[in-house]
Amino acid sequence: MIEIASAADRPAGPAESAEQRLARYMRPGTLSLAALPPLSLYVHLPWCLKKCPYCDFNSHEWLGGKALPEARYLDALRCDLEAALPFIWGRRVHSIFIGGGTPSLFSPEGIDRLIADIRARMPLEPGLEITLEANPGTFERDRFRAFRAAGVTRLSVGVQSFDDDKLRALGRVHDSAQASAAVEEARDAFDTFNLDLMYALPGQTVAQFEADLARALSFEPPHLSAYHLTIEPNTLFAKHPPAVPDDDTAFEMLDLITDRTAAAGMERYEVSAFARPGHRCRHNLNYWEFGDYLGLGAGAHSKLSYPHRVVRQVRFRDPASYVDNALAGRAVAQDEEVAREQLPFEFMLNGLRLREGVSLARFSERTGLPPTALQRGVEQAHARGLVTRDLQSIVPTPRGFDLLSDLQALFLE
Ligand SMILES: C[S@@+](CC[C@H](N)C(=O)[O-])C[C@H]1O[C@@H](n2cnc3c(N)ncnc32)[C@H](O)[C@@H]1O
Ligand code: SF4
Repeated sequence: MIEIASAADRPAGPAESAEQRLARYMRPGTLSLAALPPLSLYVHLPWCLKKCPYCDFNSHEWLGGKALPEARYLDALRCDLEAALPFIWGRRVHSIFIGGGTPSLFSPEGIDRLIADIRARMPLEPGLEITLEANPGTFERDRFRAFRAAGVTRLSVGVQSFDDDKLRALGRVHDSAQASAAVEEARDAFDTFNLDLMYALPGQTVAQFEADLARALSFEPPHLSAYHLTIEPNTLFAKHPPAVPDDDTAFEMLDLITDRTAAAGMERYEVSAFARPGHRCRHNLNYWEFGDYLGLGAGAHSKLSYPHRVVRQVRFRDPASYVDNALAGRAVAQDEEVAREQLPFEFMLNGLRLREGVSLARFSERTGLPPTALQRGVEQAHARGLVTRDLQSIVPTPRGFDLLSDLQALFLE
């Protein structure tokens, strides 16, 4: 990527104003985008009761029993949004995702205010999906219904496992009984919800995972996300790695997931996502289809298209500096233009995660490049049996899905 400005690198002197930044985004460039893609909104709420040892998200333990600085953070989000409006002027929002961290730590009144602040400032598509991430450790009776009343349409419950030993090994704040109660409440309060499970957990056997999966499917979730536990750098698990199942065992677990979800009438529409008809996550689909998104909140990322360029922005990561800067109308810490040569890889990195693959027309619409820009990668992937292709699309084969990172790497410049 070519960096076009960064808060850290900018020479001393008057900071760039929003008008100057926008003028920079609008100036002529080498791309020519015929239409702008759908726009989603991501809002990051950065606090958790306790930091999980495997987690590398921008999430911070809220220590000390004091109340969260909810009102001030919501003020900061409102200022952030107001300062961002000229950058997405007149564009309609097609989905909202309130993620974290643990958004369900915020009060239903706080979430109500957040959604009202957004509604008052941006045109929203009628009936849009509004997802909120919830942790069973923050679950109280009727809390989920109150989120629903605030305007949330979809809950994503971070269960991870229904096995108390595994939950302890993962450092989760909830136990299996709380996880079940939270999923039941989500099912009662929402027309659609997601359940997050992780597999290949420390010391996990195939039989243990099979029981976990059966328990998850017994709630008939409309959507299931199943993630292979990854040991991320800069986490406690990276420093003290637990003994995890080998690759063959993890593949056996993945086979169980695909078989059992299919038997339950769910489709694996993305490498980690399984849904009943009509329950795919519209927000995540927009990421995978290389749509645009505005990210508000600490450390949130944005991808925004302009007639002659695609731009990425990152907001201040530390919650306290984010709040100070957002309240002063300068939440963006860094921005960069995605280089023309980088666009095929960025597009394919996302698109190849989808079972139905990528549409060549969409590639040209979202990147401004001709389909021939993909030719070399497609030829190699086809020769290795990783994709099928026709005049309209490129679709990963089952082998391509299993070897996804190898397949994606073929599209690096
Ligand atoms: C952004 S997290 C937030 C969800 C919520 N805070 C929670 O943990 O309940 C979304 C999901 O990513 C998954 N996840 C987080 N760290 C992971 C890791 N190291 N390996 C695999 N999956 C991970 C978990 O399933 C988690 O529910
Ligand atoms: S609750 Fe979720 S976001 Fe928070 S530390 Fe754990 S995995 Fe990360």
